[in-house]
Amino acid sequence: MATIRDVAKLAGVSVSTVSRVLNQNGYVNKETEQKVVAAISKLNYEPNAMARGLASKKTGTIAIILPDISNPFFPELARAVEDVARTYGYTVFLCNSDDHSDKEKSYIDVLHKKYIDGIIFASNTLTGSEIERMQKQNTPFVVLDRTPDQQSCSIVRSKNYLGGRLAVEHLLEVGCKKIAHIYGPQYFSTARERLMGYEDCVRGYDWFSPSLMIPGDFSMNGGKKAVEILFQRFSDVDGIFIGNDLMAVGALKVLNQKGIKVPDEMAICGFDGISLSEMIEPEITTIAQPIYEMGALATRILIKKIQGLEQQNQCYELDVKLVPRESTRRGTNP
Ligand code: RIB
Repeated sequence: MATIRDVAKLAGVSVSTVSRVLNQNGYVNKETEQKVVAAISKLNYEPNAMARGLASKKTGTIAIILPDISNPFFPELARAVEDVARTYGYTVFLCNSDDHSDKEKSYIDVLHKKYIDGIIFASNTLTGSEIERMQKQNTPFVVLDRTPDQQSCSIVRSKNYLGGRLAVEHLLEVGCKKIAHIYGPQYFSTARERLMGYEDCVRGYDWFSPSLMIPGDFSMNGGKKAVEILFQRFSDVDGIFIGNDLMAVGALKVLNQKGIKVPDEMAICGFDGISLSEMIEPEITTIAQPIYEMGALATRILIKKIQGLEQQNQCYELDVKLVPRESTRRGTNP
């Protein structure tokens, strides 16, 4: 395979002249440039992306770090990131941190060594010191979905608090008399905000008690276990707001196994709007996040930052939407 030296020799110029032509930086007269271009095509020379990255410090690559690749929410997010990145000529590295901060840190190290142009963090273990480190290294980044405690960075997320309220108001509208909430891990900002939305909605009802809030872990099994706990505590609950669609799928499985009719005896509403929630029987009502738009916006912001077109840090909160389906369709409620 031809090297930059072969090109320089054939064109009768120095290696640094060839590098200037390749990176279009620094003056090269037209005749010399033509000689270099002719030598490149004659030798079929492929500039080494890493070498170009070293020279221009740009490699045309970005990364997204996801916390749980097995949860369909995140691949749907990554789909948008890749689509938008490609339209701007960027390749995307997908990294899965399994919600482990050590794994995330090692990814940041590797990506930095590979001269990644920018990172989208959809995980949530970014600490203040890591944010400062990214800023010191001058590596553009955007936080997507889960917000770190230290927020001096660009953030794209959805209106989780409002979504929690929407879910409870819908369950009340369809006639639920006592509503529980299965919540996600409280170290996630998204889960905390949804729990607050639920609590602010139901706190004033005489049937409310804190034990109606059941801990989950955003997984299907977590949803199954949480419903079992709910039934150990209460026998008169007829509505559940569940903090994400995966847990709602798990909860539905247990309700079916117990012979509890959904929605007539128990109405359930999930959160996310992943396609799985409409593939299941009965289809699950959910609070749909604008997953694709979130990923697309985060990518556009990151690329603007890489190109030096976006300096300030801003938080972008996107609207969520109630999607009524079978799991809350009761009586005359259409
Ligand atoms: O289902 C995964 C959950 O974690 C989603 O609700 C998303 O918002 C993320 O925080």
